Amino acid sequence: MAMNEPFDPQRLQLETCVRQVDYHDALDSTSDRALKLAGAEDLQLPLLVLADRQLAGRGRGDNRWWSGDGALTFSLILPKHPAAASHRTATQRETSVLATPRPEGAFVSLGAAIAVERAIAATLPDCELRLKWPNDVYLQRKKVCGVLVESPAVARPVFVTGIGINVNNSLKGAPDEVRARAISMCDAGGRSLDRNELLVRVLREFELILSGLADGSLSLREMWTRACMLQGRQVSVQSGGQITTGLCEGIDDDGNLLIRSGGGLVRCSTGVIARSE
Ligand code: BTN
Repeated sequence: MAMNEPFDPQRLQLETCVRQVDYHDALDSTSDRALKLAGAEDLQLPLLVLADRQLAGRGRGDNRWWSGDGALTFSLILPKHPAAASHRTATQRETSVLATPRPEGAFVSLGAAIAVERAIAATLPDCELRLKWPNDVYLQRKKVCGVLVESPAVARPVFVTGIGINVNNSLKGAPDEVRARAISMCDAGGRSLDRNELLVRVLREFELILSGLADGSLSLREMWTRACMLQGRQVSVQSGGQITTGLCEGIDDDGNLLIRSGGGLVRCSTGVIARSE
C-alpha cells in the first residue's frame, strides 16, 4: 500500500461548506475535541475537527472505535438551526445547508451515513454497499463506517457529528473477530485511496443531503430505501429495556425504523439492532 498522503485543510475549506478546520496529527478523539470546542463563541461553523491518527475513538454507547493508521476520522460541529451557516452568497445561503427541519437529529445522523455511502460508492463503484439503521455503512456485508451524533449542552445549539471510515487501515492483520465484522476500503478495493478526495466527497454529499432534507426536495425514506440492509428481513430492535421483533419495512421520512410485528406497525426512533436474519 502507498503511504498515506497528508491532509490538505486548505483544500477542504475551499472545496466544501466547511468554514474552519481544526487539524491535528494525532488526537485521542476528534469528537472529544469538538465537544470541547463547541462552547467557544468565535467558531466559524461548520467546523471540521480532523486527525491524521485517532488514538482512543469512541463509538455509540460504551463502545470504542478502533482506527489504525490510514483511517479517516473526523467530527463536524454543525449549527442546529444553521440558516446563516454558509459562507456562500446571500442567494445560495437561502438554499444551502439547513433551515430548521423537523427531526433535525435524524436528518443529521442518517444523512451522514447516506453521504458516506454515496462517497464510497463513487470511489469503489463495483463494491456492494448497504446502510444499516440507524447510521452504519456496510461494505461487502461488513462494517466500514460508524457515525456518532452528540448534542453538547452549550449556549449555541450545535450537533457534533463524529464519523469514522476504514480507508487505508488494512484489517488483514486484525484479530479474526474484528475481520469477521469489519472491513476497510483498501482491502475491498485492493488499492490505497486518497483520503482528501474521499473527505471532500463526503462533505459535499452531506451538505447536499442536509439542504435537500431541509427544503423538502429530498426524502430521507427514498434515499435510505435504495441501500437499506434490513428491509424485508426479520429484526429485533432493542431500545431501553424493550425489544421489538418483526418484519422490517424500512424507515419513514422522519428516520424511524418501521417494524411490522404481531401488534401492528411499530416506529422505532432509537435503539440498536439486536438481531437480523
Ligand atoms: C459507532 O459505530 O459506534 C460510531 C463510531 C464513531 C467513530 C467516530 S471516529 C471520529 C469520531 N471521534 C470519535 O471518538 N468517534 C467518532
